[in-house]
Amino acid sequence: MAKEKTIYTCTECGGISPKWLGKCPSCSAWNTLIESVAESAAPGKNRYTSQFQALAKTAEVAVLADIDATDVQRTPTGQDELDRVLGGGIVEGAVVLIGGDPGIGKSTLLLQALDSLQRGGQSTLYVTGEESGAQVALRSRRLGLDASQVKVLAEIQLDKILATIDALQPDVAVIDSIQTVYSDQLTSAPGSVAQVRECAAHLTRCAKSSGTAIVLVGHVTKEGALAGPRVLEHMVDTVLYFEGETHSSFRLVRAIKNRFGAVNEIGVFAMTEKGLKGVSNPSAIFLSQHAEPVPGSCVMVTLEGTRPLLVEIQALVDSGGPSPRRLSVGLDRDRLAMLLAVLHRHAGVACMDQDVFVNAVGGVRISEPAADLAVLLAITSSLRGKPLPKGFFAFGEVGLAGEVRPAPRGQERLKEAAKLGFTVAVVPKANVPKKSHAKEFEGLTIHAVDRVEQAMEIVRGLG
Ligand code: TYD
Ligand code: MG
Repeated sequence: MAKEKTIYTCTECGGISPKWLGKCPSCSAWNTLIESVAESAAPGKNRYTSQFQALAKTAEVAVLADIDATDVQRTPTGQDELDRVLGGGIVEGAVVLIGGDPGIGKSTLLLQALDSLQRGGQSTLYVTGEESGAQVALRSRRLGLDASQVKVLAEIQLDKILATIDALQPDVAVIDSIQTVYSDQLTSAPGSVAQVRECAAHLTRCAKSSGTAIVLVGHVTKEGALAGPRVLEHMVDTVLYFEGETHSSFRLVRAIKNRFGAVNEIGVFAMTEKGLKGVSNPSAIFLSQHAEPVPGSCVMVTLEGTRPLLVEIQALVDSGGPSPRRLSVGLDRDRLAMLLAVLHRHAGVACMDQDVFVNAVGGVRISEPAADLAVLLAITSSLRGKPLPKGFFAFGEVGLAGEVRPAPRGQERLKEAAKLGFTVAVVPKANVPKKSHAKEFEGLTIHAVDRVEQAMEIVRGLG
């Protein structure tokens, strides 16, 4: 078979060139040309018009209301936390991308999930390009999956993988990883953007036509460049990212995109001797165990997807040099600078000559503004060297005018904290539950505030 022609396409403007150039001839962007397969057009006819003509003959117009909209069938993977981020389970013909640092546990999780799917009567296929069959077997023994019936294929050539999927027609196939797969059609090395894109496109097409759900594993490179997985995000149905520090045993799986469920859901796992185990009460992880309250610590309730999560915010305020530092881990640094300005201007607490460090315990990343109030309270607590009372928590967004705004789903946050035994809260006025619901929050003293200075006042009164 003659080798198909390759061309070079600019990732910025889509311009093409027959050979590789450092600079795109169309838009003059540097280093944007990547290899792709040239699609051969049948001579004498425009392939797009012929395609449209074919479509026009077969396509039928239907009124939206008349189209059957039955909910998609989901097959639970047997890993509750994974099902949560997937939106209930794996969907027929869906393509899921799981990205994450090397060694974080992608292969482990997927092997466990495949095994429970297989035991649940689904046929599964695990394609490994990174490890040999023996290595996968070793891992499965370690995971206690001794009699696992999961089929394993050690292969990196795209055509062979596609042929195997075609022959076996599995319900679920895992490709571990997409960066090791290569297509003969392209000359670039496996793992290059061109190869990753081409292979993923073929696999996606295969999933849609065969109904096999395909899970692609993608590594995120050390420089944080998501070149590999990022180019795939628009192609696939669901994008999950595996997060967590390799030195801690907790792992978060976060849904970034999901055509079959909610985004920003998280699943929490703990890496144990015997693989990943779901953690059903994750709040416990993000609270550090202080026997007695310590200065500079304030608990807040954040929302991860639909799930309220208690997280401890820690602050350390220490005298700094001529240009004091403002550092935050797990929280936005610009927001920290803004909050310090609000604190000074509206509550009269100055940190101008102080280094300020803020950290969200447990390696979580909080992007919602509802953390503001807790950050400010942790900072003032550290500055004064006075701990917040036992069982205390706070949440609420702080505006530039010093106002405290409500956080979405305030009641759920309060309920979660009450459930975990917290007793004192400072929250935005609009988040205070109505009198009729007071019963559900028994044992919880709620202080409503609508200004930052008010919050400071209340906390001073409590301490
Ligand atoms: P792995 O799934 O190979 O990561 P990835 O596929 O994302 O690169 O995870 C490997 C790490 O997990 C490795 O450092 C060892 C650890 N591990 C355990 O702690 N317990 C286990 O049961 C297994 C299988 C792995
Ligand atoms: Mg792996």
